[in-house]
Amino acid sequence: MRIGMLTGGGDCPGLNAVIRAVVRKGIMHYGDEFVGFLEGWRGVIDDKTMPLDLQTTSGILHRGGTILRSSRTNVKKIEGGFERCLEVIAKHKLDALIAMGGDDTQSISVELAKRGVNCIGVPKTIDNDLSGTDVCFGFDTAVTIATEAVDRLHSTTEAHSRVQVVEVMGRDAGWIAVTVGIAGGADVTLVPELPIDIDDVVRLLRARWESGKRFALVVVAEGAKFPEQKEQISVGTKLDAFGHVRLSGIGQVLAEEIEKRTGYETRSVNLGHTQRGGTPTAYDRMLASRYGIAAIDLAHAGKFGRLVVLKGTQISDIPLADAIARTRTVGEDLFAVVRSLQPKP
Ligand code: F6P
Repeated sequence: MRIGMLTGGGDCPGLNAVIRAVVRKGIMHYGDEFVGFLEGWRGVIDDKTMPLDLQTTSGILHRGGTILRSSRTNVKKIEGGFERCLEVIAKHKLDALIAMGGDDTQSISVELAKRGVNCIGVPKTIDNDLSGTDVCFGFDTAVTIATEAVDRLHSTTEAHSRVQVVEVMGRDAGWIAVTVGIAGGADVTLVPELPIDIDDVVRLLRARWESGKRFALVVVAEGAKFPEQKEQISVGTKLDAFGHVRLSGIGQVLAEEIEKRTGYETRSVNLGHTQRGGTPTAYDRMLASRYGIAAIDLAHAGKFGRLVVLKGTQISDIPLADAIARTRTVGEDLFAVVRSLQPKP
């Protein structure tokens, strides 16, 4: 088969491991040929490609980023965009197209599938909020990096008897915040799913001080909001091609509010893109490799319009359209874990 591949949206540790697995199984077991589109859907529109073979995908397993590079190009916003994609796909005589991405990237695959393209999706987002899969690769690396940061912040926060607010990624779902909060032993964890209850935050911090520990760590997801806030806090007003603002700043706003209400000296740090950079963990390399193999196997089974997913410990697949239908948010079970580790109200 001739297969095209692309990586779209925010990058994610493990993308190279998927590319490598697809290409290795494809070439060594099926005799496939590959075309790599550069910079997500932009590469298809502009017909910007690179060869993908055993040589170009060698030595990339442990590397972060993506050798195909990425962009948030929205084909729906480009006049004649889908026609152009069809033209380029036909020019390269592709039998299938494997797109690695989150809901935005997969929404383009869904549209192309309706137009007859044999699309297969691989779920990618450090936010871990794609529906239908239990885990997206990249998430484990993100929480490992963020937990390490929280561990480091402990000593300096204690030395200065401060409150340290740590802002982590998580636009619509608090998977990173909750995991880092539990793993890093945060005193307060705040997520987009639940409005920030500042009285409760103050109660928890005061309880911490009264227990004799005169320092505290607060983990907040970038998408968390105060009840009175209409919009999430962002940098500027510019939207990306999929209509998203650039979130950042809730940590600082929260830090100021905490200091005002408690009198405890408070600092804020935003971990930002650090969470997405660098080498993937062993877990993510493993998951990404399994996803890559499942994707190429799906292509050879002729099962198109599907997204490879992890259900429990098993790899499976679901219709692409199901994956973009809704955001997978954190469940009450994990919020209960957070609360169980905090003093009772
Ligand atoms: O990929 C999702 C995400 O990590 C969000 O949590 C975050 O808001 C966004 O990407 C930031 O992406 P960028 O600044 O690269 O556009």
